[in-house]
Amino acid sequence: MQARTITERVQWVGAVDWNRRLFDDLIPLPEGTSYNAYLVRGSEKTALIDAVDPSLQHALLEAIESVPTLDYLVCQHVEQDHAGTIPQVLARYPEATVLCSAKAGPMLADHLHVAPNRLRIVADGETVSLGDRTLRFIYTPWVHWPETLSTLLPEERILFTCDFFGSHFATSRLFAGNDRAVLDSAARYYAEIMMPFGPAIRNNLKKIEGLDFGIIAPSHGPIHDQPGLILDAYRDWVSDRLANRVVIPYVSMHGSTEAMVDHLIRALADRGVASEKFNLTVTDLGRLAMSLLDAATLVIGTSTVHLGAHPSVAHAAYVANAIRPKLKHAAIIGSYGWATKVPEQLAAMIPNLKVDLLGTVLCKGLPRTEDRAALDALADKIRERHAALGLL
Ligand SMILES: Cc1cc2nc3c(=O)[nH]c(=O)nc-3n(C[C@H](O)[C@H](O)[C@H](O)COP(=O)(O)O)c2cc1C
Ligand SMILES: [Fe+2]
Ligand SMILES: [Fe+2]
Repeated sequence: MQARTITERVQWVGAVDWNRRLFDDLIPLPEGTSYNAYLVRGSEKTALIDAVDPSLQHALLEAIESVPTLDYLVCQHVEQDHAGTIPQVLARYPEATVLCSAKAGPMLADHLHVAPNRLRIVADGETVSLGDRTLRFIYTPWVHWPETLSTLLPEERILFTCDFFGSHFATSRLFAGNDRAVLDSAARYYAEIMMPFGPAIRNNLKKIEGLDFGIIAPSHGPIHDQPGLILDAYRDWVSDRLANRVVIPYVSMHGSTEAMVDHLIRALADRGVASEKFNLTVTDLGRLAMSLLDAATLVIGTSTVHLGAHPSVAHAAYVANAIRPKLKHAAIIGSYGWATKVPEQLAAMIPNLKVDLLGTVLCKGLPRTEDRAALDALADKIRERHAALGLL
């Protein structure tokens, strides 16, 4: 692909991956993604900020084909979708030095076998001159690995942030403008990947708030030319704000658990509490993660299978536990035939969730009047708790 101009001195030399539908063999990418790399030309030196996924290395090498020499290759994150092509770039430019954080140095050696003599560690706050342009490095750890780095180009007021503020969103547009769809993709990305690191992200937000920039250039998705929008979104995601919403992931092989889920949703609606229902046999896990971004309560529904939860429910519980949403309350509902260990099994699977378990409603076979009454009582409890949180 051809390089594209952002400013006179800064070019986009990345790759758009329109066809990719799965990331980390885990995360659905309904909108594809992009790997943004940026070429910055100073009066004396030239730097490349990040590389691209190895599957699209030809796009990067083509975009920088006419660049005769490269002084610096800034590695803001060692994950392969940005750093995987660093060895190829270093082979092409034997004079280039990789600039990276202290933690990234050994990780580049481990993950990509980059030779130590090609690396230079930059300190937090350090500046490197390109002549009439300057790179200033800001340590922004845990977005989403320990080594992550952001780079400010003060003369152009551009902040490069790699995965931080990124969105998996393939588009031919360079800039996000105020496109809601980009913020949605960024929310999906945050929920799936960044959410476990909320406190670190809060610190990073504070750190970059003191910087002077007008553009945020992440390494996935469009460039934020109205950065206030994505900054406000991140501030909201890391805040304590909760929504008056119950997230209900479930599997029901023969409809009994689903009848319980539907009854609960109606009972909650009658009490002014919103629900989102996710049948895990058809759900995109990313949408479930997005719903967990600010939900106050989680209700897990499952048929009993070989004494425990349905395997798809166990998977979703494992993922919810790993991404650590802000949830305050949880409950378990479901149907069984003769004996079940679902409550203790599921409760043991979500130790990271700092939730009050509001109870368990299990019924034998199809729900009866007393099971529906137990669901009504659960809905009462959820309403009470949401009211106590000031959500209604
Ligand atoms: C493969 C399979 C395994 C099951 N294992 C158990 C079990 O170990 N204990 C139990 O009480 N019921 C078990 N059941 C019965 C279901 O939990 C029961 O039929 C329940 O009502 C199904 O709820 P559903 O209609 O929401 O799928 C099993 C059913 C299937 C199909
Ligand atoms: Fe990453
Ligand atoms: Fe990435």
